[in-house]
Amino acid sequence: MNRPARRQRGENTRSAHLPAPAGPPGSPLGLPVWRSSAWSRTGPPGGPETTGEDAADRVDNPTTAAFAAAVASLEGAAAPEDVAGQAFASGTAAVNAVLMTFLRSGAHVVAPVQVHDRTHSLITNVLSRFGVSADFVDYADLGRVGAAVRRSTKIIYAETLSTPSAAVADVRGLYRIARSAGALLVVDSTFATPVVCRPLEHGADLVVHSATTYLGGHDDCTGGVVVGRPDLIARLRRVRVDTGAELSPDDAFLLRRGLETLPLRVRRMCSTAMVFAAAVAKHPAVRRVDYPGLPGHPGHRLARHLFDSGPEGTRYGACVTVTPHGGHDAGVRLAGALRLVSPASSAGGTRTKAVCTASLGRRSGEDAGGDAGAVRFSIGLEDAEDLIVDVTRALDSLLASGR
Ligand SMILES: Cc1ncc(COP(=O)(O)O)c(C=O)c1O
Repeated sequence: MNRPARRQRGENTRSAHLPAPAGPPGSPLGLPVWRSSAWSRTGPPGGPETTGEDAADRVDNPTTAAFAAAVASLEGAAAPEDVAGQAFASGTAAVNAVLMTFLRSGAHVVAPVQVHDRTHSLITNVLSRFGVSADFVDYADLGRVGAAVRRSTKIIYAETLSTPSAAVADVRGLYRIARSAGALLVVDSTFATPVVCRPLEHGADLVVHSATTYLGGHDDCTGGVVVGRPDLIARLRRVRVDTGAELSPDDAFLLRRGLETLPLRVRRMCSTAMVFAAAVAKHPAVRRVDYPGLPGHPGHRLARHLFDSGPEGTRYGACVTVTPHGGHDAGVRLAGALRLVSPASSAGGTRTKAVCTASLGRRSGEDAGGDAGAVRFSIGLEDAEDLIVDVTRALDSLLASGR
């Protein structure tokens, strides 16, 4: 007896309904990338899985959620309370979500004068149009921070380590001011990473990262993340969803993979930065080196107090700002004379990069307490001796051209 021929679906249908892979036995050690922007919903029609917010969907991709949870575990290892996280499409999107969640028209924020350019721009160019006001003050003097606080202050915003002068935030002192003002203490810890300092242990309510830099660590993806108490993080999720600031699962995979080597990379970068800063400070063409590991830096004592240490000593971060004699022109020539170090403004990747801080934007130049000739080095994973040879040769060329 002939079996009736099975009806063949059309080629378009067959393409659109490719077989789904069965999961392999065992648990994968690598993080699966859930590269799907739509999910079929299970459960009875009308039930929570089919209609509710809790259903897995593109806004709560499991690969992306795994990255956020991983950062929460690193930042919250010894935090006094449970820590959750939300991931965002960029560091700027993460900062934006924090500000939009906890500020409203009429609210006021206090931020450091050296705050990252884009955060400054977000507050002054965007949020100001929605009735948010801000004061940017010198955080080296906590008295000024306290004096800037108003009844309407809802956020005290800080950066654990900021550029260009590598200012160190007194997170504990800021915590006391924030508590007495009834404001949240939000700390951008991009340049510290949880390997150097975990602000939640010192009283911060929320910690923000541009994951694009050290957490990813390879200059190949963009992302942001915020971690803190689960009730605060749940409120952030609402704004993330409402503003469409989702991190893609591919970038989340790369960022989460970067976390696996974060301590190895950051510890080595910090050690190299220390040796680099000490060597460069001795060069006669150099007017000033800003690095908190140097005993003369204004944030040195605070950093020793707040920052982690290991067998290699205290970790002071991996950005060193070098200001040659001769102002802006000398800074441009120094950056241009480097051969091994790449001219790039980003930080945190495997390659060492240098940028004239005046070119980073208005806030990174003299307006933000920087120097017109300052060059920021984001130290990478090269051998310290090779970096010192490169910068010494470039500094020698400044001296030679000045003769
Ligand atoms: C301290 C700090 N905050 C925020 C940002 C913005 O992050 P993104 O470039 O991922 O938007 C950066 C970027 O480098 C940064 O260095």
